[in-house]
Amino acid sequence: MPIRKVGVRGIGAYTPPKVVTNFDLEKIVETSDEWIFTRTGIRERRIAEPDMATSDLSYMASKIALDSANLTPGDLDLIIVATVTPDMFFPATACILQDKLGATCPGFDLSAGCSGLIYALSVGAQFIANGMYDNILVVGGETLSKIIDWQDRSTCVLFGDAASAVILGPVDTGGFRSFVLGADGGGGKLLELPAGGSRLPASYETISQRLHFIKMNGRDVFKFAVRVMEEASLEAIDKAGLTLKDIDLFIPHQANIRIIESAAERLNVPKDKFFVNLDRYGNTSSASVGLALYEAFWEGKIQKGSKILMVGFGAGLTWGACVLEW
Ligand code: UT7
Repeated sequence: MPIRKVGVRGIGAYTPPKVVTNFDLEKIVETSDEWIFTRTGIRERRIAEPDMATSDLSYMASKIALDSANLTPGDLDLIIVATVTPDMFFPATACILQDKLGATCPGFDLSAGCSGLIYALSVGAQFIANGMYDNILVVGGETLSKIIDWQDRSTCVLFGDAASAVILGPVDTGGFRSFVLGADGGGGKLLELPAGGSRLPASYETISQRLHFIKMNGRDVFKFAVRVMEEASLEAIDKAGLTLKDIDLFIPHQANIRIIESAAERLNVPKDKFFVNLDRYGNTSSASVGLALYEAFWEGKIQKGSKILMVGFGAGLTWGACVLEW
């Protein structure tokens, strides 16, 4: 069977309406707008209402993506949801989303931290390249507000809720030119949610010790992030048969402006080639790269033929990068 080119046929994103600013957080923990903004670049984030779960945000993003691809849910062959905040352990959020959309295709979730969307795009692309499927919905959806410790100032100021959705399909020209995936499980302890799984099932002790919330060693994740952003970007560009100068737009995972600026400096690329929207959304984990791609598109920063590098890193530890020709 011939290998087919795979591209983006539609894109969507959704953020919940409730805005929480740094000033709002000053009232919850001992922090300041000045500290948060200078250390991270974040001004505000979106937070889902208590009755909204990841599948709800994912549904809204998916509807927009389907419309932009001119497809109906019945046209979908597969749904992949990248998330670290599934609605529940099982059923998979992809199956919950399938039901909400009224689709009939298979679906599964994928866990790769903030690299989730890039991992999921690479998995979806294989099914299309080999001819098994034609239309695949890939979602990065998170309600991180539900696993944030709102008493821990070192993490609660960083994250937000969002979903992004991409429809993959076969294309005649352009499409994905390379994928790079990586993991270092030895670094898993640097960013984890310790309890609630089979290692530490929910108990009175795990709850009283607040082990169902995100725990992170920010400094070490920062160092890891700066290194892998550079390495994965260069590897993906090289695999695509391109050089740094060929890339029109860099879409990095939106975790911290200092990480993005360090990556730009190490790569010797002007900072304005890096798309940034973390000031308005914070770190939305697997939703972040898709949300940035969506906004970059609607801001007119992407045209037919544009060469885009997407790069992310996160829990696992994982990293991923890809080059997409629009
Ligand atoms: O998607 C992947 C997810 N993770 C990341 O991308 C995180 C990567 N890491 C980071 O972005 C940064 O490490 C942080 C933003 C998390 C922290 O910035 P930092 O410059 O590495 O600060 P730090 O952790 O070294 O803390 C500096 C000080 C500490 O006080 P002392 O020990 O120097 O007295 C903290 O207690 O800042 C204090 N601090 C805060 N102060 C006010 C930590 N959080 C806050 C806060 N407000 N929210």
